[in-house]
Amino acid sequence: MRALLVDRSAPAGLRLGNAPDPTPEPHQALVRVAATSFNYGEVGHLLQEADEGTVLGWDAAGVVERAAADGSGPAAGTPVVTLAPDGAWAELRAVDTDLIGTVPGGADLGAISTVPVAGASALRALHRLGPLLGRRVLITGATGGVGRYAVQLARQGGAYVVATTGDPGARGDALRALGAHEVVGTPAAVTEPVHGVLDMVGGKQLVEAYEMLAGGGTLVAVGHAAGEPEHFPHGTLYGDDGRHDRSIASFHLLGCTALAPDLTWLAGRIAAGELDPGISWRGSWQQAAEAADALLGRRLHGKAVLDLD
Ligand SMILES: NC(=O)c1ccc[n+]([C@@H]2O[C@H](COP(=O)([O-])OP(=O)(O)OC[C@H]3O[C@@H](n4cnc5c(N)ncnc54)[C@H](OP(=O)(O)O)[C@@H]3O)[C@@H](O)[C@H]2O)c1
Repeated sequence: MRALLVDRSAPAGLRLGNAPDPTPEPHQALVRVAATSFNYGEVGHLLQEADEGTVLGWDAAGVVERAAADGSGPAAGTPVVTLAPDGAWAELRAVDTDLIGTVPGGADLGAISTVPVAGASALRALHRLGPLLGRRVLITGATGGVGRYAVQLARQGGAYVVATTGDPGARGDALRALGAHEVVGTPAAVTEPVHGVLDMVGGKQLVEAYEMLAGGGTLVAVGHAAGEPEHFPHGTLYGDDGRHDRSIASFHLLGCTALAPDLTWLAGRIAAGELDPGISWRGSWQQAAEAADALLGRRLHGKAVLDLD
């Protein structure tokens, strides 16, 4: 099969070449991939660390080529959305059936390929905050893949949504169109306490966002796009200023269980036009280096979708 292989001598460290077809385990379906989407974590981190020749990739949408031998999961011919620790950047991938969502017939599989990491992370992290109806929620790094889904889902869940971006002037309108009530440049500019935070940036923004939490509130540390450590001023965590019982929760999507229903639900919302997949770059997987460079250079706000043509 053809696949994007790690090759540090190639642009962005990726080369379209050939790899052996995967051999599914009994609980895995074999999926023919139509489209994949890039995530910051795999392009920014995994690609730098992986062995030469590896086939990476978390997100892929396609059609089941061969159902799982143990009888679990969708039948051959079913359009699906899939998540796994690797193997998405290839024509065929073997995926555990509990990480496969089904997709309505006729849906754009490129749009659906944005769901697994970005959409499912936003959904699970928002669940960690509890009920959102009538509550104020702050989303940092809101223009990114996870952030755009988080803004929409928090708004649909009934929250008052405050979003951050490094450039509210240029990107504020797009965030308001997705459902943000307010757009600010940094959590320190938030004017009233919030019940919950989804933080995609880390570092100084995480520390500032924690300061904005109301008593009993929760900050979910989803991402670390800034690549900075977090330094809390002495006394920040005493909890003796009337805002006690605030929490910071760590988060890792691949540690979550029973994701298939979330993937199916998110794919259905996109197919119905009720969620915007946030595609800001789309092209052939032969142009993978262009998409990876834009993502790492902070020039790509939203999802990059690669069609396997
Ligand atoms: N824990 C998990 O399971 C999990 C799951 C998914 C993602 N993540 C992590 O979550 C983070 C976001 O992922 P993503 O896919 O949404 O990434 P992304 O598409 O690159 O979006 C990140 C956003 O953060 C902002 N940003 C980028 N660099 C920044 C910097 N140096 N300082 C401040 N803001 C910066 C950018 O917005 P502006 O330019 O508009 O400010 C960008 O749109 C990444 O760290 C990723 O690894 C973790």
